[in-house]
Formats: sequence, C-alpha cells, structure tokens
Amino acid sequence: MIKVCSVEDVPKGSSVAAAIDGVEVALVHAEDDNFYAIHDMCSHAEVPLSEGEVDGCTLECWLHGSRFDLRTGQPTGLPATEPVPIYPVEVRDGDVYISVDENGRPKPSNGVHPS
Ligand code: FES
Repeated sequence: MIKVCSVEDVPKGSSVAAAIDGVEVALVHAEDDNFYAIHDMCSHAEVPLSEGEVDGCTLECWLHGSRFDLRTGQPTGLPATEPVPIYPVEVRDGDVYISVDENGRPKPSNGVHPS
C-alpha cells in the first residue's frame, strides 16, 4: 500500500490527480462516500479523467462526456467503449492508500492494464 493523501485533501464529489511510480491515477471521493482510484486517462482519447466531473459513482470525461463507473472502470455511455484500469483503495486513519504490486506500481483490480 502506498499513501496518496489524506481524506481531507479530496472533498466529496471531487477528484485529484496523483502519480504513483509513473502511473497517473485519478483519486475520486465519490458521492457514495467511498474513495476510488481510476487510471487518469480516458479510453477514448488522451484526456485526464481527473479533470472531469464526479457524478454519483461515476467520473465523466470532460471532452466527449463518457462516464466511467468507478467500481468497474467500464464506460456507461458512448463514445468510449473500452474500460479504464481501476486500482484498489483503502482508507486508514484518515489517509487514503492505493495498493501496489511487488514493483511498487498500482495494480489494476479489473484486469485492464494501462496502454
Ligand atoms: S476523450 Fe473521453 S470521451 Fe472522448
């Protein structure tokens, strides 16, 4: 596990960009009160998802409006058709952690790897 930030750094309904061992991650405090981590790149074009809007349990790409389910990485609407990697998040003592593999890199939990 790698500490990314504290819970207070990400108000509910917002997201921040973080780089973990060169992997760009959007850390999201969703409206269900949970924290999620999704690869910070839309699967449709090279646009950072962390600059999009949080809506419920989804993150909306600001460029063409595809939304990605933060629990699965799957797009819920066009134009994106491919899922985005998501990463396991844990909140402990007011801090937010992302789990990493033996090389210290965030490990996708939905089997999708960053391209
Ligand atoms: S770049 Fe994200 S939907 Fe097109």
